[in-house]
Amino acid sequence: MGIIRDIVKRIFGNDIAGKVWDRLEIIGDIAIVKSPRLAGLKDPLSLDEYRIIANEIMKIHKNVKSVWLAITPAAGEYRVRKKYVHLSGERRSETIYKEYGCKFKVDITKAFLTPRLSYEHLRVAKLVREGEKVVNMFAGVGTFSIIIACKSKVRLVHSIDVNPFAWKFMVENIKINKVEDRVIPHLGDSAEIIKRKLTDLASRVLMPLPGLALDYTEYALQALRKRGIIHIYLHIRALKGEDPLAKAISLARRRAEGLGAKVIGSSARIVRLVGPRIYQVVVDLDIKKR
Ligand SMILES: C[S@@+](CC[C@H](N)C(=O)[O-])C[C@H]1O[C@@H](n2cnc3c(N)ncnc32)[C@H](O)[C@@H]1O
Repeated sequence: MGIIRDIVKRIFGNDIAGKVWDRLEIIGDIAIVKSPRLAGLKDPLSLDEYRIIANEIMKIHKNVKSVWLAITPAAGEYRVRKKYVHLSGERRSETIYKEYGCKFKVDITKAFLTPRLSYEHLRVAKLVREGEKVVNMFAGVGTFSIIIACKSKVRLVHSIDVNPFAWKFMVENIKINKVEDRVIPHLGDSAEIIKRKLTDLASRVLMPLPGLALDYTEYALQALRKRGIIHIYLHIRALKGEDPLAKAISLARRRAEGLGAKVIGSSARIVRLVGPRIYQVVVDLDIKKR
C-alpha cells in the first residue's frame, strides 16, 4: 500500500481508503498529490481532507516543504498542468530536483519534469559514445541533455524547447551543472530550428514527446548525419493480445521508411504505463539516410 492510501486508512477509515488514488510524485522538496479528476473521475476527498493528508505527508517526508494537488493532466503544447491547488507548507512551486548528481531548477506550474523518466535519462546517456553530437528536440528544462553531458563523453548536445519558461530553466540548469561547453540551448519549434541551423550533424536524435514524435520524424531525419540513432517516444494503446513493443516498432519503422530512410535495426522498451492499456514506449531506430 502506498503512502496516501495508508494515511487515508488511518485517518478516514477503510471505506474511503479503497476509493482514493494512491499517486504521489515528489520533485525536489515539493510533493504532488494526484487527484482522480486527472482521469475525469469523481474525487472521493474534499480539499479540507486533502489538506489533512498533505500535513501527514510532510510529517513522513521531512524534506517535503510544499504540497500541491494536481487536478488537470500535463497537456497542451508545453505539457504543463493548468490546475494545481496548494494544499500545505510553503506556497512555492519552484524547486531544485536532483537526478544522478545533476541539479534541475524547475517551476512545476510552468515547465514539464517527471522523475518517472529518470531510468530513461540514464539509459540514453549510457548509449552515447565519445565525440557524438546529439539533438534533443523536446528538451524541457534540460534533463536528458544535461545528464548526457554529465554521464557520457558527448561532444555537443543541441537542446531545444518551445516553452520560454522551460528554456529559461534549461539555460540556468546548464550553468548550475557546468556543462556550458557541451549543451547548447535553443528556444523555439524544433522543426524550425533544425531546418534553419541543425541539418546533417547529429549521430543521435531524441524525440521525448509522444504527441508529436511521429509528425516530427522528418525533422529528426534532417538533423541526422548519414547514419545515426533516433529515439522516438510514443503512446501505444495495446488491445488484449497485442504487443505494445511490436506495435510501436512497426509504427516508427513505417514512418521512417515512408520518409525515405533505411532502418538498419530497431528495438523498443516500455517506459511507463500512462493509462489503462496505454503504454509510453521508446523505439530506438538505427537509421541510414539514402
Ligand atoms: C514531455 S516534455 C519533455 C520532457 C523532458 N525531455 C524530460 O525528460 O524531462 C516535452 C517538451 O516538449 C516541448 N515542446 C512541445 N512542442 C515543441 C516543439 N514543437 N518544439 C520544441 N519543443 C516542443 C514542451 O514545451 C515540453 O517541454
